[in-house]
Amino acid sequence: MKIYSPCTSANLGVGFDVFGLCLKEPYDIIEIKEIEDNEIKIEVDISDIPTDINKNTAGIVAKKMLSDFNIDSGLYIKIKKGIKGGSGLGSSAASAAGVAYGINKLFNLNLSKLDLVRYAGYGEVGHYDNVAPAIYGGFTIVTQNPLSVYNIKDINFDIIVVVPNIKIETEEARKIIPKEVNLKDMINNLSYASTMVYSLFKKDYKLFGKCLMMDNIIEPVRGKLIPNYFKFKEKIKDNCLGITISGSGPSILILPKPEKEEDIIETIKEFYPDGNIIKTCVGEGCQLLKS
Ligand code: HSE
Repeated sequence: MKIYSPCTSANLGVGFDVFGLCLKEPYDIIEIKEIEDNEIKIEVDISDIPTDINKNTAGIVAKKMLSDFNIDSGLYIKIKKGIKGGSGLGSSAASAAGVAYGINKLFNLNLSKLDLVRYAGYGEVGHYDNVAPAIYGGFTIVTQNPLSVYNIKDINFDIIVVVPNIKIETEEARKIIPKEVNLKDMINNLSYASTMVYSLFKKDYKLFGKCLMMDNIIEPVRGKLIPNYFKFKEKIKDNCLGITISGSGPSILILPKPEKEEDIIETIKEFYPDGNIIKTCVGEGCQLLKS
């Protein structure tokens, strides 16, 4: 069985730990097959990702699902990473979501998308805002108590992602954010988060982009982890509908004004000459490529 599992961009500025967007590219390809040995084996095509099933998000999810559904067989999981780890594009979530999606298909478990998000979440620490859009596609809103996912599809705007050539571990980026927020900032973020959802129903992507840039709580702190982020944002602001940090960074999510794409690319090359530039759009979530 071969699965396409896409990258995702969590937070979208004002929606920390709640909003997520599925991007069509980049993506991982995950192959899963049953094996006779009664164990889970993982192979990854790059060396800096652990293959120990207790450390790899795909392994954690697979182990939990086989145990919960009393499945006796062993599994061989081969992951071809298209998504760079520590880049803020939901790399570990893509492995977790792809494996949850694949095990559901392989053993005909008939699980709902919400169940798949719950299982994929075992691989993540405390947030579902990457696994939800990886499973559902489009834009997702997650509530955690109880776990629910609300999904908006049919979103049409171009996206440019800049992947600066540094790594930021989510765990580290979570340590530096404020433990408490003041009421004024909470009201600000809540108002723009609500408006962002409204903008998607109205297909008003100019308004969506404006909301993307209104976070007063997380971005001011995390932006300091990305070299020249605030200068870059200032320079690029008038050429795009919106810009923010993708997940815990360092990737930067940009909604370009269509006629300004070339100018944006020039500015990216000036600020992040050894970074990666990805042109993409909103994606559909995990897909079965071959059964
Ligand atoms: N919401 C999480 C965070 C996403 O920003 O820490 C991590 O990709």
